[in-house]
Amino acid sequence: MSSLFTLARPLIFAMDPERAHRATIAALKTGMLPRRDVRDSRLEMTVAGLRVPNPLGMAAGFDKDAEVPGPLLKLGFGFVEVGTLTPLPQSGNPKPRIFRLEADRGVINRLGFNNGGIDQAIKRLRRRAFRHGTGRIGINVGANKDSEDRIGDYVTGVTKAAPVADYLTVNISSPNTPGLRALQSKDALAELLSRTLDARGGRDLPMFVKVAPDLTDADVADIAEVAAASGINGIIVSNTTIDRPASLRSDRADEIGGLSGQPLIALALRRLKDFRQALGPDMPLIGVGGISNADDAYARIRAGASLIQLYSAMVYEGPGLPRRILKGLVSHLNADGIARISDAVGADAPR
Ligand SMILES: Cc1cc2nc3c(=O)[nH]c(=O)nc-3n(C[C@H](O)[C@H](O)[C@H](O)COP(=O)(O)O)c2cc1C
Repeated sequence: MSSLFTLARPLIFAMDPERAHRATIAALKTGMLPRRDVRDSRLEMTVAGLRVPNPLGMAAGFDKDAEVPGPLLKLGFGFVEVGTLTPLPQSGNPKPRIFRLEADRGVINRLGFNNGGIDQAIKRLRRRAFRHGTGRIGINVGANKDSEDRIGDYVTGVTKAAPVADYLTVNISSPNTPGLRALQSKDALAELLSRTLDARGGRDLPMFVKVAPDLTDADVADIAEVAAASGINGIIVSNTTIDRPASLRSDRADEIGGLSGQPLIALALRRLKDFRQALGPDMPLIGVGGISNADDAYARIRAGASLIQLYSAMVYEGPGLPRRILKGLVSHLNADGIARISDAVGADAPR
């Protein structure tokens, strides 16, 4: 943990989590943080045509309105996924709606896609075009809560985001928009993927679909089958869970919402392996859920993730985390005699 963050942490943790998050975004906006990126060609990756300087991304939800993708890349992330963005601005659920589970190093949120709308975010991204070095920016799109045509919302999002994004994510796995996860069912998913892939307007732009971890074996098989047939470029496994592991110790564990961070790690890793097994080695997977150090990151890659993302661990570990993970990944490569990180992808996956 960086010493400045160690000092500031009690102050940050004394604040309401959503206020603390706003303060963090404001601090990042000043742009005064030192560069912490790690330049090492062994970490470079190309996944579905997306070239990234390293495989570690900031997961969606941290920078919902695309306010600070540049500063996040400066912290070392190889890519930043902004969003979830909906066609119309919406305020989300009543506050409080983010809870720290400190004893469990977890987070529960029921934000409900609060965001300023996709138009504002895109305007911001256009102004800052090309100011992010070799790091990449993905745009994660969703549906408005009150929309009567949810698939239409995704099509709108993709149509608007495609000209400014390095990749796109269709997020059908938030537990905080009632009914959204139903889009993971076979017929709905097939229609959603076909229409959103078309909405890229012939651009050769990677598109991923982000799934929940709360899936049965049959759900995994259905999603894998539809995804493979659709032409989608990869699957992000996973969003937060509505499950509450018996091991949770925090008094906020019963709050409604999606659980992330340390208590999600086993389930997210399990689902990644399930998808790897269901899909074989060709479909790229992006592993996310509970990653908080280089060992977690390396294990997720060896289990079959071409890219990895995190969010909750930033709350507990602070801004030095991406750099520590990247340095740790290089150490793992050296220890295992592996030339580049791409050679480690799926090394532990059954053939
Ligand atoms: C406060 C908060 C807000 C989130 N908002 C979004 C979101 O808008 N869209 C999305 O796809 N995922 C969202 N997520 C889920 C994360 O992107 C990630 O999938 C999940 O937290 C698991 O990763 P982690 O354990 O590293 O946090 C959010 C997570 C948190 C903690």
